[in-house]
Amino acid sequence: MDDSTLVARTQRGPVKRVLVVVLDTNIATHDLPASGEVILGRGEGAGIRVDHRSVSRAHAAIEVGEVVRVRDLGSANGTSLRGARLPANRAVEIGANEAFQVGDATVVVHERRTGTRPTSPPPAGGDVGVAIAPLVVDPAMRNLFDLARRVAAGTINVLVVGESGAGKEVLVREIHAASRRAAGPLVAINCAAISETLIESELFGHERGAFTGAGTAKAGLVEVAAGGTAFLDEVGELSPAAQAKLLRVIEDRRVLRVGAVEARPVDVRFVAATNRNLEEAAAAGEFREDLYFRLAGVVLEVPPLRERRADIEPLARAFAAAAAAQQGRELPELTAEAVAALLAHPWPGNVRELRNVVERAVLLCGDRIAPADLFRTRGATAAPAPPARAATDGERTRIVAALEQCAGNQTRAAELLGIPLRTFVKRLAQYDIPRPKRR
Ligand SMILES: Nc1ncnc2c1ncn2[C@@H]1O[C@H](COP(=O)(O)OP(=O)(O)OP(=O)(O)O)[C@@H](O)[C@H]1O
Ligand SMILES: [Mg+2]
Repeated sequence: MDDSTLVARTQRGPVKRVLVVVLDTNIATHDLPASGEVILGRGEGAGIRVDHRSVSRAHAAIEVGEVVRVRDLGSANGTSLRGARLPANRAVEIGANEAFQVGDATVVVHERRTGTRPTSPPPAGGDVGVAIAPLVVDPAMRNLFDLARRVAAGTINVLVVGESGAGKEVLVREIHAASRRAAGPLVAINCAAISETLIESELFGHERGAFTGAGTAKAGLVEVAAGGTAFLDEVGELSPAAQAKLLRVIEDRRVLRVGAVEARPVDVRFVAATNRNLEEAAAAGEFREDLYFRLAGVVLEVPPLRERRADIEPLARAFAAAAAAQQGRELPELTAEAVAALLAHPWPGNVRELRNVVERAVLLCGDRIAPADLFRTRGATAAPAPPARAATDGERTRIVAALEQCAGNQTRAAELLGIPLRTFVKRLAQYDIPRPKRR
C-alpha cells in the first residue's frame, strides 16, 4: 500500500531532557545533564542564565536524577508550580512537560527519547510545519496532563477526544511516554487515511495468499505495536467490519490475520482518538456501542484553544521562535496589538491553526508582527478577527468558520481543521452545509 497513507512511529532509547525557558519574545532551550544540579538565575555564575529583572541572581536549582525537582533558592519573586509559590529550599518534583514559573519566565522540562526515528514518512497533509515541545501552561491543560500521566501508569484503554488540531496526538504521545510501555513502540494508525479495502489487513495483517496481491504474509500494525501502544487515530472512521474485528482483538487479546485460521496473542494498549462525538455516534448506532465502551475505559478531553486562552500567547511565542529559527531569521517582535488579536480570535482550527497563522506571519512580516501580518487575506489588509463563538456551537460552526476563512476552498479548510478531505466532505453532507464549488 501507499506508505504515505499511514503513520507508524517507533520510540526507543534513553531519555534526554531539555529545559525550555519562555520569556517575553524569547524562547531558549538548554540541554540538562543526565544527573546533577543546575542553577537557574540572572547571575553570571548561573548554569542556565535567564537575563530578566524578575529573576534573582541564583533563583532556583534544578535537580536532575530519576525525576526532576525544582528548588527555590530564596528568590525575590519566587518559583511557583501548579499555581502555588514554592517554599524556599524545598525540592519539589516536576513532571515532564509541566510548566512552572521562575519570576516572569515560564519554564518546562521536556523529555525526549533519543534514537526516535520514524519508520515511515508522515502522512500527506499531516503536520509538516515547525514542531515545538508540548507547552502546557493553562491550568485546565495542566490538570489534563496530570491526569493523563496517572492514567498512563495503568493498563486501561484510553479515548482522547477534542476538536481538530487541539493537541490530541500530543497528549497520546505523552500517555505513551509516561506509561510502562514507553520503551516499546508507539504505532499510530490513521483509520481515516487507510482505504476501506485495506484497513483490515493493515490493522490485523494477512497470511500469504489471503487475497490477490498478498504475495507474502505480513504482520498488521496492531502486532507491530506489541509491547507498546497502538494509537488508533480517527477511530470513528473505522468500517463496521473493522470495528467488529477490533472488538475481538481487544476482548481476546489475540489478533487474527486476514486469511489465518488461528489467532495470535498480542500485548498492546489501545489509545484511540477522535474529533467526533463518538458517544453520540454509538447511541445513534453509527459506531458499535460495545466497542465504544471498550475503547473509552477513560475519556480524556483536550479543551479547544478558545477555552484555554492562557496557552495562546506562550504557544504563539514558541511557534514564532521555532519558525524564525527554521527560516534563519531574527525573531520578530510580537506586538501587544498582535497578542490582543490572537487572544480575540476563536481558533476553529485550534493549535494547528495558531501554528499556521504564526508561521505565516513570521515569514511575511518585517521586524515586528502586527495584527495585519497574522490575519491577512491574500496579501490585502487585515481581516478583522471573527467574533468569539459560543463553545457549544460544535463541529458544524467550526466547519463553516473554516470554510469562510479559506474562501470556500474545501481542500484548504480540511487542512486547516486537520481532517482528511474525504471526512470533511462527509461532514458537509452530514451537517447540511452547502458545498462550495471549489475543492
Ligand atoms: N500543547 C501543545 N504544545 C505545542 N504544540 C502543540 C500543542 N498542542 C498541539 N500542538 C501542535 O499543534 C498541531 C496539532 O496538534 P495535534 O496533531 O496533536 O492535534 P490533534 O488534536 O491530534 O488534531 P487532529 O484532530 O487533526 O488529528 C501539531 O503541530 C502539534 O505539534
Ligand atoms: Mg491527530
